Amino acid sequence: MTNTLLVLGSANADLVVEVGRRPAGGETVLGGDTVVLPGGKGANTAVAAARVGAGVSLIGALGGDGYGELLRESLESSGVDTKLVKTSARPTGIAYITVTPDGENSIVVSPGANADVSPSDVDAVSFDGAQVVTCSLEVPLETVIHAIGVAAKVGVRTVLNLSPVAELPAETLRQLTVLIVNEHEAAQLAPDFQGLLQLGPQSAVVTLGARGAAVVTGEGITEVPSIEVAEVVDTTGAGDAFAGALSARLAEGDTLVDAAKYAAKVAALSVTKAGAQPSYPTAAEVSASAAE
Ligand code: RIB
Ligand code: NA
Repeated sequence: MTNTLLVLGSANADLVVEVGRRPAGGETVLGGDTVVLPGGKGANTAVAAARVGAGVSLIGALGGDGYGELLRESLESSGVDTKLVKTSARPTGIAYITVTPDGENSIVVSPGANADVSPSDVDAVSFDGAQVVTCSLEVPLETVIHAIGVAAKVGVRTVLNLSPVAELPAETLRQLTVLIVNEHEAAQLAPDFQGLLQLGPQSAVVTLGARGAAVVTGEGITEVPSIEVAEVVDTTGAGDAFAGALSARLAEGDTLVDAAKYAAKVAALSVTKAGAQPSYPTAAEVSASAAE
């Protein structure tokens, strides 16, 4: 049986260190102890979706090393199906993350095994029963392009978290049901939010951080609010939490606006805890949150 949500993307070990400020070129700063946490945009998206109840499979790759085991364990304990996660000869991807006191992060990614996720891995996947395929961009672009093409051909809805921004064929953009970008990425792509649809997707969602998100369709723009959180601890993976929760709700049959409302809550809750995957709420935690 295929799960209703397929996620294609990276899995990384996040090596996180808190710093007072980031070093400039040639400079050294001392930070806190290194914390190793499961991350990667694809794995994060899949875990966020599974935590809120979706049946989800991740298409990806890990190394046959200890970090690979950490990722597999995080995915499986969250309920993500890892049958389509292959073990590659390369090391598990690593993200080197610095977090400053304001909760802001900056990241260097070493792709490792993620670079081995290939179009033929997509060809090995059955799309029967899948409602939504969600992709992000830390795996080879040709693989993402292929997955979106195959999904569109078999009538499965496609979601792309275009982070970081990359050049995509016009045909791929036209095959998208939902394009997800943050404000900064939106500004790189179009003069205004409505202009995102000129690129080709059926709809777009712009994440607005603490302000929630804007849903862009042919009918116009709907702003969906977020919930207020007491303290921002770590924004790492908040965008992935949003993409995962939105995809989960779309696969369940929600409208895009309802899915985005729910996803904005999930993303807001995720920033109140350290790390990416360990900070993602369950459906019960989302229901219990203030504005439910
Ligand atoms: O989006 C956050 C993720 O980006 C981190 O978990 C890190 O692994 C990088 O891929
Ligand atoms: Na977090």
